[in-house]
Amino acid sequence: MSVDELRALQLERLRWSLRHAYDNVPHYRRAFDAAGVHPDDCRDLADLAKFPTTSKADLRDNYPFGMFAVPQEQVRRVHASSGTTGKPTVVGYTAQDIDNWATVMARSIRAAGGRPGHKVHNAYGYGLFTGGLGAHYGIEKLGATAIPVSGGMTPRQVQLITDFRPEIIMVTPSYMLTVIDEFEKQGIDPATTSLRVGIFGAEPWTEQMRREIEDRMDMHAVDIYGISEVMGPGVAQECVEAKDGLHVWEDHFLPEVVDPLDGTPVADGEEGELLFTSLTKQALPIIRYRTRDLTRLLPGTARPGMRRMQKITGRSDDMIILRGVNVFPTQIEEIVLRTAGLAPHFQLELSTEGRMDALTVRVESRPETPGDRRAAAAAELVTAVKDRVGVSVRCEVVDPETLERSVGKLQRLKDRRSR
Ligand code: DLL
Repeated sequence: MSVDELRALQLERLRWSLRHAYDNVPHYRRAFDAAGVHPDDCRDLADLAKFPTTSKADLRDNYPFGMFAVPQEQVRRVHASSGTTGKPTVVGYTAQDIDNWATVMARSIRAAGGRPGHKVHNAYGYGLFTGGLGAHYGIEKLGATAIPVSGGMTPRQVQLITDFRPEIIMVTPSYMLTVIDEFEKQGIDPATTSLRVGIFGAEPWTEQMRREIEDRMDMHAVDIYGISEVMGPGVAQECVEAKDGLHVWEDHFLPEVVDPLDGTPVADGEEGELLFTSLTKQALPIIRYRTRDLTRLLPGTARPGMRRMQKITGRSDDMIILRGVNVFPTQIEEIVLRTAGLAPHFQLELSTEGRMDALTVRVESRPETPGDRRAAAAAELVTAVKDRVGVSVRCEVVDPETLERSVGKLQRLKDRRSR
């Protein structure tokens, strides 16, 4: 499809989606009316900016099913995101929604290098989380073989990869590290497995982490993005040929980037908060959803028709404001992985010292690192954070295998500040 054809399709679908939301979801009718806009006011794609945005709070206020736009008997499945506080956010799918999701997910796996006939080890969690089942249906739709392992029971992950010889693994990058360590613990060189591609997402990860995983596993590591409220995994995917950010499947999901403070649209190429509008979703149409994820939109490369989003640097929610300086966990990850002797396992702890906030980076030493290297590694990290991020932190280098491991999404930050 040419870009002009794609834009025409998006406009037609956008008008349908706005109308569908307005006619069938009381929340959208109220919100559009309050903003003085009507679906008929959308005459070209830029008109979308006149419509109100939707946030997680809107889904919580309409818990559990108040945002659904179809009668219950048409809803084939629900998923829910746990949410760290309060009620989960519930999302729903019709049979057509599940089929579209499988299609974009199959596309994602193909762009990552997967082909019909490949075996795919799926270690994303099955259950209410969208990762496991979302990936699963895409694997089947592609014509590949799904190995539905889910997360956890790490020694068994290693056994199944060794015995079933999958070409592809789908898992969070933090859990991949746990599995890599388990291979080494069992005396198996992770670079010798059958795996050729890892499709990693559900949490932010850096170029340094890509290198770490690619080197230790001798495979390609590519990025997949998704969010439950918009669909689940398979909203955007990095192509294995280019590894230069994620192409958005724009025939189903319309991206925008806005200034996170005042919500005004920014031009393509500029950083801001990512918003999505669903173009085909029946059960849960979502209009201008504020993801809180920070990125920029770039022209397509390996798939020229679709725009790319830059690898996500972080969520506005994960940003730590330390004595006036914005710090993202991914900035610390980059520095940890560049510091000789430090393992990719670290935690961040915020505490109160006197009237000030303090940040401690607690990081494991690599097993082979000599004990007398630790103090120097800690000092190097502190200097690098000061130079590159602009804040003073404390660093404690701890023994290998002492920090909590991830089996899915990793929570890096512990906030122990007194209020
Ligand atoms: O994490 C869906 C998913 C499953 C994506 C498996 C990829 C693979 P939620 O639980 O709703 O959905 O969490 C969505 O996770 O807003 C981002 O903050 C973060 N996230 C997802 N993918 C990436 C990524 C799934 N590739 C939230 N890079 C999003 C950075 C990501 N952050």
